[in-house]
Amino acid sequence: MFSRAVRPTVSLVRGLATSSQNNAKVAVLGASGGIGQPLSLLLKNSPLVSHLSLYDIAHTPGVAADLSHIETRAKVTGHIGPDQLGAALQGCDVVVIPAGVPRKPGMTRDDLFNTNASIVATLTDACARTCPEALICIISNPVNSTIPITSEIMKKHGVYNPNKVFGVTTLDIVRANTFVAELKGLDPARVNVPVIGGHAGKTIIPLISQCTPKVEFPADQLSALTERIQEAGTEVVKAKAGAGSATLSMAYAGARFTFSVLDAMNGKEGVVECSFVRSEETECKYFSTPILLGKNGIEKNLGLYQEGRGFCRQPEVNS
Ligand SMILES: NC(=O)c1ccc[n+]([C@@H]2O[C@H](COP(=O)([O-])OP(=O)(O)OC[C@H]3O[C@@H](n4cnc5c(N)ncnc54)[C@H](O)[C@@H]3O)[C@@H](O)[C@H]2O)c1
Repeated sequence: MFSRAVRPTVSLVRGLATSSQNNAKVAVLGASGGIGQPLSLLLKNSPLVSHLSLYDIAHTPGVAADLSHIETRAKVTGHIGPDQLGAALQGCDVVVIPAGVPRKPGMTRDDLFNTNASIVATLTDACARTCPEALICIISNPVNSTIPITSEIMKKHGVYNPNKVFGVTTLDIVRANTFVAELKGLDPARVNVPVIGGHAGKTIIPLISQCTPKVEFPADQLSALTERIQEAGTEVVKAKAGAGSATLSMAYAGARFTFSVLDAMNGKEGVVECSFVRSEETECKYFSTPILLGKNGIEKNLGLYQEGRGFCRQPEVNS
């Protein structure tokens, strides 16, 4: 469901619900939250998940009991508090982390650093100990910082595999697709705007010129559209007026990314998602570009767009 099968050139056709099954154990850490609950619901609804393991410091028994009554195959287990974190992670193939505090009006994502950095560090430390082979998908903000933190924690334990640590920036792509489709009267399901860079304000770089299908805007509309995509999170924070940030659209985006990862693990070819990962494509150590997913996470970083070649890895620089 939601996954997009794309050719590596990023001319994209979005697939509908996948009919394939696999036996993945997926953990959601922060499962009782505004994102965690609807994300867990979407994962429970997927044939790609055989065991959905829900962890939080509050309310997980109730969330798990509720979801466990849904007539889909995924077994649901609930785990609460640090003593049960190990059990939640045991044997996991994919760990999705939306744990942490969201923004309130007037806050930037960086204002969340102090609280969320230590939450993510604690949770990924447990992943390194218990399921070092799992793919880790981080939603908790600031993503631009929580991915480097995760990478350092994995390194500290000697289990770092840069192909398995992902910053989930999918909501930026989802928003860009929606806004472009609205302006052009297109079906959003057929639109794909690659979004590269990072996941905060100006670091969010929508490549509208590389949109599929091709779209054109006058300069003033293009700059307003770019700014709207970059500030779309703040649009939701303001509208929610103190009640948090994007949760439902983020749950959709998190599920889309998780299904893409699972589809690729399951052998589906040509699955591409933009994600914030350890990168050699620019001077930044971490950068989001289109990623070809495979059985073990990143199959190939498709890198930056090159005229005439599409998205492909930068040519090796000969010394
Ligand atoms: N990547 C993105 O595009 C994106 C988009 C929206 C929000 N976010 C981020 O996602 C995070 C969660 O947002 P939300 O709206 O769901 O917040 P929320 O407050 O509704 O939920 C957070 C959940 O995390 C849990 N939690 C806190 N500390 C924990 C710990 N140590 N271990 C396990 N669980 C813990 C809380 O109990 C709560 O259930 C925030 O950091 C937010 O900024 C990211």
